[in-house]
Amino acid sequence: MKIGFDFGTTNSSIAMATEDGDVKLARFAYQGGSTESYRSLLYLERIREGRRTTIKSWGGPEGIEHYLQTEDKGRLVQSLKSFLASRSLQTTEIFGRRFRLEDLVANILRDIRTKAEEQFGCRIRDAVVGRPVRFVGAESKADDDYAVQRLTRALENAGFEKVEFEYEPVAAAYYYESTLDHDELILIGDFGGGTSDFSLLHVGPSARRRGQPRDVLGNKGLALAGDAFDARIIRHLVSPALGAGTLLDSAGKLLPVPNWVYFKLERWHHLSFLRSAETLNMLQSVAVQALEPEKLSALLYLVKHDLGYHLHRAVQRVKVALSHDEHSLFEFVDGDLELEADVARQAFESWISEELLAIEQRVDALLAKCGTQARDVDRVFLTGGSSLVPAVRRIFESRFGSQKIRTGDEFTSVARGLALRSLDS
Ligand SMILES: Nc1ncnc2c1ncn2[C@@H]1O[C@H](COP(=O)(O)OP(=O)(O)OP(=O)(O)O)[C@@H](O)[C@H]1O
Ligand SMILES: [Mg+2]
Repeated sequence: MKIGFDFGTTNSSIAMATEDGDVKLARFAYQGGSTESYRSLLYLERIREGRRTTIKSWGGPEGIEHYLQTEDKGRLVQSLKSFLASRSLQTTEIFGRRFRLEDLVANILRDIRTKAEEQFGCRIRDAVVGRPVRFVGAESKADDDYAVQRLTRALENAGFEKVEFEYEPVAAAYYYESTLDHDELILIGDFGGGTSDFSLLHVGPSARRRGQPRDVLGNKGLALAGDAFDARIIRHLVSPALGAGTLLDSAGKLLPVPNWVYFKLERWHHLSFLRSAETLNMLQSVAVQALEPEKLSALLYLVKHDLGYHLHRAVQRVKVALSHDEHSLFEFVDGDLELEADVARQAFESWISEELLAIEQRVDALLAKCGTQARDVDRVFLTGGSSLVPAVRRIFESRFGSQKIRTGDEFTSVARGLALRSLDS
């Protein structure tokens, strides 16, 4: 029994492969049904039992349910994978207690492992685990190695004993290859929540017969994807309504309100940690001095009530709608907060133009590094949730022609491919 484990920035999946190449994904209970995509988040709550206080945590779908049911919100942390390369985040304080990043991540990984064990009916100690070509925040190979070390520690804490890493786009190539009856030179583009990853390699029956390792011509990674698109939506639609760019009156001197708060608001992994006593005090004093205090009060409300999850949902809704409609309504209503705006796909595409350009450059750099022309590539396989953004697809259609593009299993191709890859280990 072989296991492939995709710990994603937004969604995680775990798959089991049998020797004949069949792949089965674990399913997770959610809102009366079930899903193969486990939201990679953790919800923590302080529980008082008599005089004792303990901190309890729930991952994924259960975490969401507990968060939504609780009146007095605990802490919901999202996109934790994006911190793995960050040496400045070793520990974080939650309810007055220090938590190591690896331990928070381990809680998610352990939950997925034990739920998969129950379903697959076997102990899970070994796995092939996905990794991006470049982690978010990594500026050098040393940073990437550091992220892998921390992920390894988190996996060990979560009960894994033997782990092998594979690049996520190479895993997606294994999945794509399982559908092929002939050889191809394939370009993979995997666009997730945190990273966009590219691999160029030969796949097909001949490569399968040769076994490990696959003949990978090259990999390239870019530390931006869906979360970076979300950041642009927040910058344009949300932050201005919460006081970004407004002024405060400090003893007769007009100063801009601190902009670092809005930077943190734009990033899910930072927003999760914005609710500290220090930040709340700072926001309270800014609200008193602000020339537009109602906007700062709305920001304070959002941070105090830990509404990151609701904001994420609102941003997701508009972004997903814009993947199939030309216009969509952005709506975020909660207590004192009431934001509504009509968004055109064209506007969204102009907000993410820098990210789109960076993606184009990375694809061209991969082809140049491998000495390959676009016409030599037989097929392009696009996967990951952010590959559903039409402007992302267009980058490949214009270079390779739409007849060469293949898509599918956006949320599970990497886990399926990792399980298939584990048959080669
Ligand atoms: N229909 C859609 N249109 C646009 N974006 C979408 C759509 N559906 C999902 N997404 C985005 O896809 C991203 C999640 O994709 P995915 O699950 O592949 O990422 P991940 O594997 O968790 O992240 P990573 O691979 O970077 O670690 C999120 O940013 C989500 O908003
Ligand atoms: Mg992914």
